[in-house]
Amino acid sequence: MLKVLNISPSDLSLSSSLLLIFVVDNIGHAPISTNIQSINDVYKFLLKPFLFLLSPEKAHYFTLFMLRLTLSIPGLSALFRAQYRVQDPRLRRKVLGLTFENPVGLAAGFDKDGKYFRDMASLGFGFIELGTVTPKGQVGNPQPRLFRLPADEALINRMGFNNEGVEALVSRLQTQRPEGLIIGGNIGKNKVTPNESATDDYVACFEALFPHVDYFVVNVSSPNTPNLRALQDKGPLTQLLSTLQDLNHQKSAPKPILLKIAPDLTDGQLDDILEIVQETKIAGIIATNTTISRADLRESPQRIEAIGNGGLSGQPVKQRSTEVIRYLSKRSNGKFTIIGVGGIQTAADAIEKLEAGADLVQIYTGLIYEGPALVKNINKAILQKRN
Ligand SMILES: Cc1cc2nc3c(=O)[nH]c(=O)nc-3n(C[C@H](O)[C@H](O)[C@H](O)COP(=O)(O)O)c2cc1C
Repeated sequence: MLKVLNISPSDLSLSSSLLLIFVVDNIGHAPISTNIQSINDVYKFLLKPFLFLLSPEKAHYFTLFMLRLTLSIPGLSALFRAQYRVQDPRLRRKVLGLTFENPVGLAAGFDKDGKYFRDMASLGFGFIELGTVTPKGQVGNPQPRLFRLPADEALINRMGFNNEGVEALVSRLQTQRPEGLIIGGNIGKNKVTPNESATDDYVACFEALFPHVDYFVVNVSSPNTPNLRALQDKGPLTQLLSTLQDLNHQKSAPKPILLKIAPDLTDGQLDDILEIVQETKIAGIIATNTTISRADLRESPQRIEAIGNGGLSGQPVKQRSTEVIRYLSKRSNGKFTIIGVGGIQTAADAIEKLEAGADLVQIYTGLIYEGPALVKNINKAILQKRN
């Protein structure tokens, strides 16, 4: 395991400290320092500084390794659930013909291969989106391919759909899943597949995953697979979604298909998307993926230049993502489901997206900067808002 994660002995000593923090934190003992009073603080002042010493990609796998190790200690899984899950029927959402225990989900890309969704479910998510997965496994772009922009509370990634392939994901979805957890399958195409044959890749993933997920997301908005975003154009997109919908309607119980879009689309392109949704009758839209824009960043232009290509996520994408949600919601009169994602770092950010017209929200970068208590904080704030 350690070899796979490329973890050194020094990382291991770090791991024991982290494990201790996780345990102490979750048992709810006395504060570790006088300034540290909540689980938010434990993450921000103790865990995050440790994790930010590692490269972002290493920190990602290391955190997941730590989480799994912690949850394997008898009793801690239940403690985690008690600590992080907010269980209240008022959080329940009936969306897409499914019942979500709460409206906060884990965004695609965090657990591409379905290795950690059981562990992540302990953090209180109402749903988890796996993928993006492609028909064949692929290594993705060369490392480094994930970068932190702390001054902007943002990330730039050009992972390039690194994943083990759809069959590996299917094999991990065979066993029982955590009770009540909704699972989405986010599907894409292999890098080597030309756009003209892209539909075949999406169909292969759709068919393989059909018995194992609750909803599908067609990802044509990642900036890290050459030309992928050209599939957002009206012609190819209508063809792709119609093909998937035709197959879907041949099933005895069709599943909701959503489209994930980029925040960089113009209003005219969004109007095209609205027409396509109406024509193909897909269930909804996920707004949004990462942006290729680099506008208004605090990080120095030199560093941004040195990082190079990739999708920007976190705080800088927040406003545009909310604008897209608002635009789609107004124009569609709430006729289809919108899942809002992009720059949610606080409970207020999530509520803003829900008020702009999102039915559900997802987080990724906020988890890195704010820690896992973000899920609970959002759910609590939603409940408070209702009172
Ligand atoms: C490292 C990384 C990998 C990602 N991989 C995927 C992916 O495979 N498929 C996808 O649809 N979105 C992917 N995303 C985009 C996120 O799901 C999300 O749409 C985007 O990051 C905006 O949300 P955030 O600001 O909360 O991170 C990825 C994001 C990051 C940071």
